[in-house]
Amino acid sequence: MSATENYSIRVEPTKESRLSQVDFNNLKFGKILSDHMLVANYEDGAWTDVSIVPYGDINISPSMSAIHYGQAIFEGIKAYKFQDGTISIFRPDKNWERFNTSAARLEMPEVPEEIFLGGLKKLLSTDSNWVPNAPGTSLYIRPFMFGTEAALGVHPSNSYKFIIITSPVGAYYSNPLKLKVETHFTRAAEGGVGFSKNAGNYALSLYPTRLANDEGFDQLMWTDASEHQYIEEAGTANLIFRIGDSIITPHGDTILHGVTRRTIMELAASWGYKTEQRRVSVKELIDGIKAGIVTDAFAAGTAATLTPIATIGYEGELFQLPPVEGRDFSKKVLTYLDDLRYGRIADEFGWNM
Ligand code: COI
Repeated sequence: MSATENYSIRVEPTKESRLSQVDFNNLKFGKILSDHMLVANYEDGAWTDVSIVPYGDINISPSMSAIHYGQAIFEGIKAYKFQDGTISIFRPDKNWERFNTSAARLEMPEVPEEIFLGGLKKLLSTDSNWVPNAPGTSLYIRPFMFGTEAALGVHPSNSYKFIIITSPVGAYYSNPLKLKVETHFTRAAEGGVGFSKNAGNYALSLYPTRLANDEGFDQLMWTDASEHQYIEEAGTANLIFRIGDSIITPHGDTILHGVTRRTIMELAASWGYKTEQRRVSVKELIDGIKAGIVTDAFAAGTAATLTPIATIGYEGELFQLPPVEGRDFSKKVLTYLDDLRYGRIADEFGWNM
């Protein structure tokens, strides 16, 4: 990583590591937090007090603006450990760029590269023992920022906290997904905040997702706000389909532009597949499934990695996708990404940092 440190980052090591209490064979997503966290404060137009401190509770005011008006954004990144012990972070530069895009949309300050990427690198060298190395495991990295001003007037906060916490994880989804096409509730509309990774996008999904869970679905397949006819994303991940000869992903400013999605589309293009980022109608997908030309379908995200879609529910009918074992494209992507992230093959694109 090439970040230069103009900010001095103070390190206050924990007096008692929790590492020995962790069962690395039984990692529930996001339940175990590593020993340290990076914290930086933004006040009077400048970032100050950048420090790595023991993971723990923080003091907040009951009138803190983020709790009331939702100025809160985050990212998800993963770090992997190679056989020789090298720790590699997967494309964190792209998450840093997206984080600042989210910040701009919510009228929040940018976080400089030295704090986001330089601070992350220093945090991982402090907690290097927390990066697991068993197959399918990684260290999930959660950078986030929120407005901290204690004030009830609606205006951009005049102060912020940027924090990075990390958590050793296994798979987010352990089985192929059953998704329900959502045709009533809306995740994001044109001109809204769908492309930004902000807390509100997730809060609004909880009620419709719970209704779908009650019907036996794992997650929603969100559709466009105006007609509910075009597929957007799954909320916790983007969507990618192989229809006929093409690898296709829905596109537009109402969906999150995921780093995993981008990676898979770039890989597919480099392998000579025809790739398309465009609107995909529910009709095109369902007709394609019926005609047998949808040969691959999966959710793609940092947490989800690549999770196959088994079944799609639409207007009371269930549509089955082909068996996971026969999906050549997603198998090839998973093998390649695993080999790359665990350092078993050359990093031809420079994605390990
Ligand atoms: C991620 O994939 O990193 C996410 O943020 C999705 C979810 C865990 C909220």
